[in-house]
Amino acid sequence: MSKIYILHENPQWIGPLRVALQSVAVPFEFWDVSAGCVDFGATPPRGVFYSRMSASAHNRGHDDAASYAAALLAWLESHNRRVINGLRGLDLELSKARQYGALMAAGVRVPLTRVAVGREAVAAAADDMTFPVVLKPNRGGKGLGVQKIDSARALQHISKSGDYDAGPDGAVLIQQYIESADGYIVRNEYIGGKLLYSVRVDTSTGFELCPADACAIDEAGRLVRPAVREQFEILTDFRPPDDDAYLQVLAKYNIDIAGIELILDRDGTTYTYDINVNTNFNSDAESRAGLDKSHGGGMLAIAQYLRHELQHLTD
Ligand SMILES: Nc1ncnc2c1ncn2[C@@H]1O[C@H](COP(=O)(O)OP(=O)(O)O)[C@@H](O)[C@H]1O
Ligand SMILES: [Mg+2]
Repeated sequence: MSKIYILHENPQWIGPLRVALQSVAVPFEFWDVSAGCVDFGATPPRGVFYSRMSASAHNRGHDDAASYAAALLAWLESHNRRVINGLRGLDLELSKARQYGALMAAGVRVPLTRVAVGREAVAAAADDMTFPVVLKPNRGGKGLGVQKIDSARALQHISKSGDYDAGPDGAVLIQQYIESADGYIVRNEYIGGKLLYSVRVDTSTGFELCPADACAIDEAGRLVRPAVREQFEILTDFRPPDDDAYLQVLAKYNIDIAGIELILDRDGTTYTYDINVNTNFNSDAESRAGLDKSHGGGMLAIAQYLRHELQHLTD
């Protein structure tokens, strides 16, 4: 029997998707990609394969999950299986440099960015840039390792001491800091070639802006986000100015499901800076907007999309 296979490495993120898949009554199975063996001599099972391989896997001790996931996707694609967010999408998920290349080729403005490998290159990268700048790993996720650097002196100090997160591939982005007009960034959620909704995210509490409900709770079960004002709010009257270009990028990289982040500065200029091929949704924000598990919620929309793809399988 054909089914939906969810390739993932983070059990904490799959709860809402499990509920959504159960509600649309399709057969599914979770496939843990944190480790394993791909047999290129075997034939993959029939079905639809949805990759939720995340750039932040190494922060959960799954340093090699990306290698396993890439081998698995190569095998599935060689058998022409229907893969949602396949190998090309994984390439983007794992590298902001590649994301920016793809965005710029589609005419989308990204912040002025330099990609440096090695302490000397990091030290020299911002020589003629205006401070503050942002330092972040090329392969990141969840805002981990993102630092705002206010002066050339501070950058010299950090690069000398090596006190920055270069992530698993050793490449660091030194990037123009974009001051948001209102303290928010906007994350645009795409499913199946369509904008589902845009959500604005309050950045006043820092750079770790993972929308998943599981990210709001620490390992001891405590709330990690102070309830100052609602951190996530779905926008009902916003369409990203680069909507068409985003769709072009997603199509080119065979990405069916993604969240794309932008900042609007004081002059109203838009900068796009992150493509999340593995996306999550905030259920509180969805309920406040009248969307939920049975109507209009993000995970439900993914489950419905996966069901549709399964029903239309041709091989
Ligand atoms: N160039 C920038 N200017 C201002 N804020 C930024 C910039 N880059 C990142 N940030 C802030 O840090 C957060 C995390 O950075 P991001 O590039 O999205 O990395 P990640 O892949 O870890 O989510 C962003 O959502 C934003 O709030
Ligand atoms: Mg981000």
